[in-house]
Amino acid sequence: MKKIFSILFISLSFFSVKADEGMWLVQLIGEKTYADMVKKGLKLTKEQLYSANKNSIKDAIVLFGGGCTAEIVSKEGLVFTNHHCGYGSIAAASSVAHNYLQDGFWAKSKQEEIASPGLSVQFLLNIEDVSDKVNEKIKDVPANELAAKLPGILATMSAKAAEGSGYEIRIGSFFKGNQFLQFTYQRYTDVRLVGAPPESIGKFGGDTDNWEWPRHTGDFSIFRVYMSKDGKPADYSADNIPYVPKHFLPVSIKGVKDGDFSMIYGYPGGTNRYETSYGVKLKIDIENPFTVSLRDARLKLMMTEMLKDPANKIQLASYYAQVANYWKFFDGETKQLIKYNVIEQKQKDEAAFEAWAKGKPEYDNLFANIKSAYDNWRPYAKHRVYITEGIMGSPLLAFAAGLRTLDAALKESPVNQEKINKSIVALKAAHGRFLNDENVTSDRNILAIVTKLFYTDIDASQRPQNFYTALKNTHGSLEKDETYENFAKQVFENTMILNKDKWAAFISKPDTATLHKDLAYSTAISFLNNFNDNYGKYFTDFNGATYALNKKYLKGVLEMKKGKAIYPDANQTMRISYGNVKSYSPKDGVNYNYVCTLNGVMEKYIPGDYEFDAPAKLIELIKNKDYGQYVDKATNDIVVTFITTDDITGGNSGSPVINAKGELIGLAFDGNYEALSHKIAFDKNLNRTICVDVRFVLFIIEKLGGAKNIIDELVIMKN
Ligand code: ARG
Repeated sequence: MKKIFSILFISLSFFSVKADEGMWLVQLIGEKTYADMVKKGLKLTKEQLYSANKNSIKDAIVLFGGGCTAEIVSKEGLVFTNHHCGYGSIAAASSVAHNYLQDGFWAKSKQEEIASPGLSVQFLLNIEDVSDKVNEKIKDVPANELAAKLPGILATMSAKAAEGSGYEIRIGSFFKGNQFLQFTYQRYTDVRLVGAPPESIGKFGGDTDNWEWPRHTGDFSIFRVYMSKDGKPADYSADNIPYVPKHFLPVSIKGVKDGDFSMIYGYPGGTNRYETSYGVKLKIDIENPFTVSLRDARLKLMMTEMLKDPANKIQLASYYAQVANYWKFFDGETKQLIKYNVIEQKQKDEAAFEAWAKGKPEYDNLFANIKSAYDNWRPYAKHRVYITEGIMGSPLLAFAAGLRTLDAALKESPVNQEKINKSIVALKAAHGRFLNDENVTSDRNILAIVTKLFYTDIDASQRPQNFYTALKNTHGSLEKDETYENFAKQVFENTMILNKDKWAAFISKPDTATLHKDLAYSTAISFLNNFNDNYGKYFTDFNGATYALNKKYLKGVLEMKKGKAIYPDANQTMRISYGNVKSYSPKDGVNYNYVCTLNGVMEKYIPGDYEFDAPAKLIELIKNKDYGQYVDKATNDIVVTFITTDDITGGNSGSPVINAKGELIGLAFDGNYEALSHKIAFDKNLNRTICVDVRFVLFIIEKLGGAKNIIDELVIMKN
């Protein structure tokens, strides 16, 4: 039964782009796609969606903090995004005395808003196809060297194009290097915290509910963008004034029905929908499971400290959430890739491609060559995961690894003082940030466990012999946990990185002898040098070969599908996805509703629990059914969340969910567990985007936060 189910309901093949799949480039919404949007219910013109020279919805959408999306919702630069996107800033503004993570925060006037150093938003100004220019620059680069050289080439071209403009330019690679588009952005760096619900709303359900539907998380936070008095981007200053947007989204409190049109604008970070069967296999066999097990070990050690003391919690919460988010994702992704036979699906796609490519010599042996690139790399893939997710999973060692730039600068002859000074300035700033977030106890335990796991799990022939020999000589048997614990203790007691005076002395007059003697540094480079010197070339070869081969594959796919609507993989450029509000059946005999309500919060509520506690004031509001104009008529309750079929991924977090008339109905914040293979294969029946209902957002602001000032700033549509 199960088997039949998955065959009947799963269509993962990219040869048949089906309903709701697709993250469309905003400027390239073709007639076909637009017509399909209208058919699904859209009431806007194409120009209202995106216009190169007139104001359109795209002007209300920003790239938030470099990894999320946010939308402008008032004429005074107010933005909505997810709680988990504002999390770092909320944590940074918090202290044990003013614990905004725990208690929430509501600015009752602009004076009360809190500056968020380091946070910025970027507006997209312009998009240009620069394929010819890029192709001209890379025409003499051997195909296998492109992977290594392209990022530098694009960065140089971008910097040159932006020179003197005050804008930022980034050139993106599309269809695996078969097209290049140049994006111009304007960055605003004075962004202030305006409001956030308590974590027991903004992160209700924690990691247990993360990536799951049904869901009861109020995942939103509120910021405001400021500009200088003369209307330009400017760093924080008390004299700055609220940003005046070209467009902002009105907010609809009419509510959603099953089947309603919805679309989502945002900055999806990355997908790999054209991944080959070989790539999926490496992911399933090695990359995902070991990433998950190493994260699991680190997370447990962090949680132990977070539970001990609220100060530890504030310090570690943001990093913990980041690691935990993809720990669960990768685990679920592996399960779904296996369950839906994605390797087989990809093999079928590859066979169909080979049939099409027959008689076209440029594609001869394409998949045989891809296979051999994977075969050559496979023996070292686990080692690399143990470096990136293991050894570098110790924040101390990751910081220490950053000292390599200084080390290299110090070794240069003749002396390049400018380079050394530049490196010192960068390290001083990084050191301050590092110390702020550094929880010594959890990090020390992490260092002990990852050095042990590296020893037990990685092929003996690949170990850094010098490190383990020295470890044995100084601390005894490599089989005992104690050895690693004592070693970690020694590192933390002796490293200059954690010793104020030693660090100050070193950084004011750095020298290689002191640096090389530092135990944190020498440990980090033992592992990194061992990998780079002995296995780095396999990794470079693997990347070079697969880049060239995948590019060729995609070139063929584009040719084969000429005339069909086709979207490129996500790469943190602005996209539109569209679909419907829609319930689903996750498995035989089970139907999931398209909304979750406050009633469900009460069902999940566990007083005092780490994940399922709820604020007393919310319980009170529920008891009194004090819902005001935000009540949902159909359920006579507050709708907390709803789901849509829109195609999104990480980076879309905070994205506006917009109705047929261009009004905000919710904020996208998650994907569902049953479709966690979505980065590689979109599932047309099971894929859902989880959104916080904007009526819940407004209800919390007004009734729980008492911040009527924020509500008054919005344009609220009741019909
Ligand atoms: N899964 C969400 C996303 O990737 C993030 C949710 C954060 N919450 C958490 N419990 N870690 O957008």
